Amino acid sequence: MSGEDFQPLLAQASAELQAGRPDAAERAYREVLARDANHPVALHFLGLCLMQTGRTQDGLALLARSVELLPGKAKPRHNYAVSLLQAGHLEAAERELLEAIRLEPENAASHHYLGMVRQRLGRLDAAAGAYRAALERLPDDPFVASNLGYCLLEQGKIEAALEWLRRSIAREPRNATAHNNLGSALNAAGDVGSATASYRKAVEIEPAYAVAWYNLALALRESGDDEGALAALRAAAHSGPGFAPAWQALADALAHAEYATWDARAADDVARILRNPAVDAGALAHSAARLLMLDPGFGPAFRAIVEGDVRAGEWFSDDRIGALAHPILLALIEDALVPDPLFEIFLRSLRRSALRAWSAGMLGESARVLELLCALAQQCFLNEYVWPERPDEAADVEGIAAPAGNVLSPTVLALVAAYRPIARIAGLARPDTSSDAFGRLWRRQVEEPAEEARLRAEIPALTPIADRISRAVQEQYERNPYPRWHRLPQTLAAAYPLARALRTLFPQVDATRLRAPESPAVLVAGCGTGYQAAVTAARNPAGRILAIDLSRTSLAYAMRRCRKLGLRNVRFAQADILALDALAERFDWIECSGVLHHLRDPIAGWRVLTALLVPGGVMKIGLYSEIARRGVVAARELVAREGVGSDLDGIRKARQLILDQPEGSAARAATLSADFWSASGMRDLVMHVEEHRFGTEQLAAAIGELGLEFLGFELEDPEVARAYRARFPGDPAAISLENWGRFEAENPAVSVRMYQFWVRKPGERL
Ligand SMILES: C[S@@+](CC[C@H](N)C(=O)[O-])C[C@H]1O[C@@H](n2cnc3c(N)ncnc32)[C@H](O)[C@@H]1O
Repeated sequence: MSGEDFQPLLAQASAELQAGRPDAAERAYREVLARDANHPVALHFLGLCLMQTGRTQDGLALLARSVELLPGKAKPRHNYAVSLLQAGHLEAAERELLEAIRLEPENAASHHYLGMVRQRLGRLDAAAGAYRAALERLPDDPFVASNLGYCLLEQGKIEAALEWLRRSIAREPRNATAHNNLGSALNAAGDVGSATASYRKAVEIEPAYAVAWYNLALALRESGDDEGALAALRAAAHSGPGFAPAWQALADALAHAEYATWDARAADDVARILRNPAVDAGALAHSAARLLMLDPGFGPAFRAIVEGDVRAGEWFSDDRIGALAHPILLALIEDALVPDPLFEIFLRSLRRSALRAWSAGMLGESARVLELLCALAQQCFLNEYVWPERPDEAADVEGIAAPAGNVLSPTVLALVAAYRPIARIAGLARPDTSSDAFGRLWRRQVEEPAEEARLRAEIPALTPIADRISRAVQEQYERNPYPRWHRLPQTLAAAYPLARALRTLFPQVDATRLRAPESPAVLVAGCGTGYQAAVTAARNPAGRILAIDLSRTSLAYAMRRCRKLGLRNVRFAQADILALDALAERFDWIECSGVLHHLRDPIAGWRVLTALLVPGGVMKIGLYSEIARRGVVAARELVAREGVGSDLDGIRKARQLILDQPEGSAARAATLSADFWSASGMRDLVMHVEEHRFGTEQLAAAIGELGLEFLGFELEDPEVARAYRARFPGDPAAISLENWGRFEAENPAVSVRMYQFWVRKPGERL
């Protein structure tokens, strides 16, 4: 302690902070600390300054020190807890708030924040209790009342929620959050019209309120106003650039857009979506490509390339490349497979034109040529070189790929990467370039495969793989791991624990049957390349996940992706489901989607999994539907009749066979699947070594035989559930498999690519 009087300096700093000038305040606090390094007040407020200016870790460290130096004071604890909450450290925030409340039990704000923290932790009863404690101390505070209302809504207590939200609005009619929450409660009560009005009120009060715009969009869509919904989604996305659900929903809405003419505004949205790493833009790729073809600045180049104009190579000169290197094209083909036959012709001709430009010495070396070729190479890497190539192309590529000493310019290497996996070129050195596009190409096509090769060796084997079919299936996925994925949309990565997911999926089921532990033990059986395991791990941060598969190549891919995403609660192992009966572990939840139908005896595998489930545990199963897969089966039979091999050459031939079928023929339906557009997708779709398909009668029989309870389907399209309920009003829970069988026969086009459903093992958890 210096014993100096810092009051004037502290008062000045505090005034700066209150006036919204944290930088000036920071200087004053640092001045105090320069003279007394342990001054608790200066440490505390400097911590708050750092929090305000985004230096979270340092800010929290200072706040923690100040709290230690002021052990008996409630206010600093409260501030520290609020900062912890802002930084997402919920458990620590709860601890500090409880201590602040112990020191000062009458502080309503601490009870209020405790409610918020517990609500975010999903502990709704405890959260409601904290809000009520705040209201006892500060009766009818409109903000606490609004939060309590929303908490009650999350608990499913709709009437009580409505009451508190209306009380909140009566006290403070300009609170946009309360109007938004009221909208959600009205929506849950089935009053979509009043919900829409409430959301409108919220955005009228706060025009940049992204969440309220988003909710408004969903309500408008629900009432059939697609145009209004799209406008509201745009407003949501643009007022919340970081609000991923709005961008994801906008991407999904634009995926269905049909354009007759160039639409610059849609193009702007599409370009932003494609570059947003938090959004999965896969579904948008087709309509984005169609829109791009209509751009008057791009159209002439597109047509010249598609028509195989002999001068097409000229587009690759440095001065003409501008017309081709369109931002939508670059973003689109770098990250998404484009499922469109005409666009594929364009891209194949583009690749050939670039090769021709290289042979004619016309290939430019500018940054834009490089960027375009890198994007094209990324598309070819994503589709695993599934496009056919002509003999002259093959000869040219072999010629460039093997220069003396393997020294290639980045542009030429990108061109080679559009034909061949460059990771396999022996002794290849990274060319010296600062191009970001090339950096991304090198990472994805050279560094990541090398990392997967290293990870392969780390994977433990839990069981032998003895079954003949299991070995054949393993061999397929070792060569063709499936599915490749690059983005985990943020909407699927946010915490959404199992118990809550089940309550939302099956509101008609008695909640006591859906109870799930806060940190469930989960088995993902047949995890493939890990997408499902990643979603499960991200949504259940407290879950302990074991993900197994036959294929080490797939598992290595999964491990790399999950490590990159920072998911530490999932471990991977190689195992055959059929041999898992030797496992001592038991699970609260098992996910097995798209797997059992590839076993020699699917029911035998399902039985093994059932034995691994605890009583009261749940299982999500995905199985092919015979009816939904008719078109694919026609394509599969066509390919089988032709007897093509399962190597890349065979896959290319199989694709061409299907593309040569007349439009509207059954087998052409295979082209509607995203899997048609990549080599491993094709193999999984129409060239699988083992495939079984099911009808609802077989599902019912198997579920009965295994002694499981059917909870219901998880449907991607809410329209299907609505149509089912309208057809079978006597089955509001939608659990009659007999009715579902009839429904499917009457609506063979309903989009149930696969039956995705949940079952429960009877009994009580111990
Ligand atoms: C179509 S992929 C689905 C992957 C993942 N479930 C998904 O939905 O993305 C099928 C996966 O099941 C795995 N698989 C098939 N039979 C299996 C078995 N007997 N034991 C373990 N995994 C198996 C395959 O190796 C393959 O990775």
